[in-house]
Amino acid sequence: MDTIPFTRAHARQAAEIHVEGQPGTFLTRLGIDFLTRMYQAIADSPHAFGVTVVDEDTVAGVAIVALNTTQVFQEMKRQHWHRLLWPMIRQVLRDPLLVGDIVQSIRYPATLHVPPGEAEVLFLGLRRPYMRRGIAPRLSNLIMDEAHRRGCTSATTLVARQNRTVRWIIAAVPGAYVDREVELNGKIMLVYRVKLPILNESDQSSAASGQQSAVSSQQVAVRDGC
Ligand SMILES: CC(C)(COP(=O)(O)OP(=O)(O)OC[C@H]1O[C@@H](n2cnc3c(N)ncnc32)[C@H](O)[C@@H]1OP(=O)(O)O)[C@@H](O)C(=O)NCCC(=O)NCCS
Repeated sequence: MDTIPFTRAHARQAAEIHVEGQPGTFLTRLGIDFLTRMYQAIADSPHAFGVTVVDEDTVAGVAIVALNTTQVFQEMKRQHWHRLLWPMIRQVLRDPLLVGDIVQSIRYPATLHVPPGEAEVLFLGLRRPYMRRGIAPRLSNLIMDEAHRRGCTSATTLVARQNRTVRWIIAAVPGAYVDREVELNGKIMLVYRVKLPILNESDQSSAASGQQSAVSSQQVAVRDGC
């Protein structure tokens, strides 16, 4: 087991993990082809990064972070729309109720109000056989460190109120708090925020190693836990 930077080669498996872990949600309803192209676009973006947990050829988990949510969404709309549109239309023909959710999602960055310098965790997911092994909290620490290394001074994420596992993971992050609740695609979502850097043990060790990439510095920690 190892952690490596997320690339477009991992996009299809990231989409599979997303579909498996978030059944019935808006992005899952847009389909695996849409999600694959969306994750490819994110992998290519200078305004986002991701971390992939690999177990030989299997992508066991991913964490995806926007360094600038507004820019990532604008890139999707301006540069990738022609690749995203067809899989989206195909799903809308099957599920016309998606149109309302698509309209709402176009205004997503405005709904969330992510200030400059704030990273947004867009997705964190593991394949089922890799859950309950302590990988997720370590991935969470790792992306927080990496976001800070890339210049972010705070981080945010939107979590469905009923997603108790993620809420539990965030509750263990020192300084993280619920800023407010928003309704998105018919669900109550909690907007979590935390200042960076997070002052915990792993932060102290990465501070000791200067500006080294958090992705490489935490490879050993993730490997040890698996
Ligand atoms: C979110 C996800 C990555 C977490 O991975 P995981 O392996 O299930 O998480 P862990 O088992 O490491 O749990 C982390 C902590 O939460 C606790 N926890 C897990 N489920 C819990 C629950 N239902 N209630 C209370 N605590 C819970 C665990 O005990 C653990 O705490 P500990 O380390 O102190 O023991 C995984 O569940 C997943 O991929 N879910 C689907 C995708 C998703 O919903 N992603 C989040 C939205 S972006």
